[in-house]
Amino acid sequence: MSEIIPVISATGLFTPPESVSNAELVESFNAYVDLFNARHAAEIAAGSVQELAPSSVEFIEKASGIKSRFVMAKGPVLDPETMAPRWRERTNDELSVLAEMGVKAAQDALAAAGRDARDVDAVLCACSNLERPYPAIAIEIQNALGIEGFGFDMNVACSSATFGIQTAADYIRAGNARSVLVVSPEICTGHNNMKNRDSHFIFGDVATAVLVEAKDVAPAQHWEIVGTKLKTVFSNNIRNNFGFLNCASPEGIGAPDKLFVQEGRKVFKEVVPMVAAMIVEESDRLGIEAAALRRLWLHQANQGMNRLISQRVLGHEANEDESPTVLDTYGNTSSAGSIIAFHKHNTDLGAGDLGVICSFGAGYSAGTVFVRKAA
Ligand code: COA
Repeated sequence: MSEIIPVISATGLFTPPESVSNAELVESFNAYVDLFNARHAAEIAAGSVQELAPSSVEFIEKASGIKSRFVMAKGPVLDPETMAPRWRERTNDELSVLAEMGVKAAQDALAAAGRDARDVDAVLCACSNLERPYPAIAIEIQNALGIEGFGFDMNVACSSATFGIQTAADYIRAGNARSVLVVSPEICTGHNNMKNRDSHFIFGDVATAVLVEAKDVAPAQHWEIVGTKLKTVFSNNIRNNFGFLNCASPEGIGAPDKLFVQEGRKVFKEVVPMVAAMIVEESDRLGIEAAALRRLWLHQANQGMNRLISQRVLGHEANEDESPTVLDTYGNTSSAGSIIAFHKHNTDLGAGDLGVICSFGAGYSAGTVFVRKAA
């Protein structure tokens, strides 16, 4: 039996309609700081409560490269009394929010591939934050699209999408599926602590979809998956303790450790060398010269991190053509970031061009997907 080659047939994107600029975000954060400091004036004067410091647009742009981010609920996110996405809770008969975003991204990918949803065999919902434990969001997406077969949710934080692509590619190589949708809906503003000065600016909301298929059923315009590599190394430097066993704790679900917490500096220092080495080693194993990679679609968390990683891989500082940025307008969108970069910046490349989609984040987790444009 000849080997089945997995390819990326198409990608899809759902971008929320509303965007928040750094100026708007900082104005809201600083209004919250003023309120907090006024409400706790006596304790602050007595030294029992720490006075909060304001945020700044200049810091955010310089430290991260982020200028704005798309969000699912701009009003509540910017309201200094709320600072989180809020909407009417949907009934069990309505499509859940995450599934709705995922369906839109999936439909975009299916349309780009000219694929009928009925020809898809499996849906993997691969993302950082699922809105409920079960039934799986993937099965809800599968049902909404009219797909037979199977679906399940998987969470590897920021690396969920690349882990999902490898899982889909393995199903295809093994003959267990011919067409798999990897969907990554991310409402990062829901798990970010918008009241934390160090990280209130980091995240945005979005959904992406990647259609991974057997080469013989894929459209002519596709990207062959040349190789994938996954890596995890335990670390507490990015952590979120939210879960059903601790919601009843005295501080409850709103406690800071039940949201995203990170040691940003440590993450920066530890993840950059790990990811750069991983790309170079995997390139070697695949017989690809890392420095000759035509494009790096890197995880979108921090421009400085991407600058250093691409420098180590390519041997020089990458320009926008070699390592495109979407972080400036999307913020960090967790697992979706490298997929947005790929989605928006792949059609201009030529037949035979090689590139790598690379994610990294909590776990730590990192994933590489080496792709070659079809002739
Ligand atoms: N506005 C103004 N100043 C701020 C600020 C804000 N919102 N937040 C922090 N600062 C200040 C700090 O108080 C500190 O001041 P000091 O030097 O007087 O003590 C200074 O800015 C530097 O803070 P620091 O937290 O060390 O910033 P940084 O340069 O490390 O940048 C991150 C912070 C989060 C942007 C950066 O560490 C990062 O992106 N790391 C990687 C994160 C990542 O990829 N995470 C993965 C998530 S999935």
